[in-house]
Amino acid sequence: MRIAIVYATREGQTRRIAEYLAGAFQAREVRVDLFDAKEAPDPVLEVYDAIVVAGSVHLGRHERELVGWVRRRQATLQRIPSAFISVSGSQAGVEMVTCTPEQRTRAREEVALVLKTFARQTGWTPHWIHPVAGALLYTKYNFLVRAIIKAISKRTGRSTDTSRDHEYTDWADLERFAGSIVSEVHGQ
Ligand SMILES: Cc1cc2nc3c(=O)[nH]c(=O)nc-3n(C[C@H](O)[C@H](O)[C@H](O)COP(=O)(O)O)c2cc1C
Repeated sequence: MRIAIVYATREGQTRRIAEYLAGAFQAREVRVDLFDAKEAPDPVLEVYDAIVVAGSVHLGRHERELVGWVRRRQATLQRIPSAFISVSGSQAGVEMVTCTPEQRTRAREEVALVLKTFARQTGWTPHWIHPVAGALLYTKYNFLVRAIIKAISKRTGRSTDTSRDHEYTDWADLERFAGSIVSEVHGQ
């Protein structure tokens, strides 16, 4: 089996997620090719048994280069089993047990909205859609971004401790996701 993973990232968490998935596929004897959408990769997609597209959310949108990459290949992606992984702070709010029910509902609505926007921008209906919680990298942000993200985090129930980074990604869930893709593609 052969799988392509195409990702876009701004602060690096989606690259870590893409690399983790690549390892999880390889452990299941899948051949994996990993591409950064920023490098405008143009592989022959038909050679793959499945394609995973992963991107992160900033200001309510996925990366421009990923939207463009998908839009240009939407018809091909529609024919090959394909997954979309959307990495966001909102999904952390959906999963965090410390969030109030209202915060969780709002987070769920935000995740649904960015997925809808991505679908409208690309015209692509993935076979699997998997929202994944990202990370707050306070130590890497500049002063302004740190202040904005802290204010958003206060409202949404995420950590406001800016002295360190906070990773919300559920790696065990990604491991299971990789397994389910491999078994579904095998079963076809
Ligand atoms: C400037 C900035 C804007 C962000 N905007 C959103 C947003 O609109 N919605 C959201 O759910 N998460 C938002 N996030 C959280 C990111 O999606 C999260 O940090 C993710 O892990 C980033 O992934 P990346 O490192 O692969 O770029 C934002 C983060 C930053 C730094």
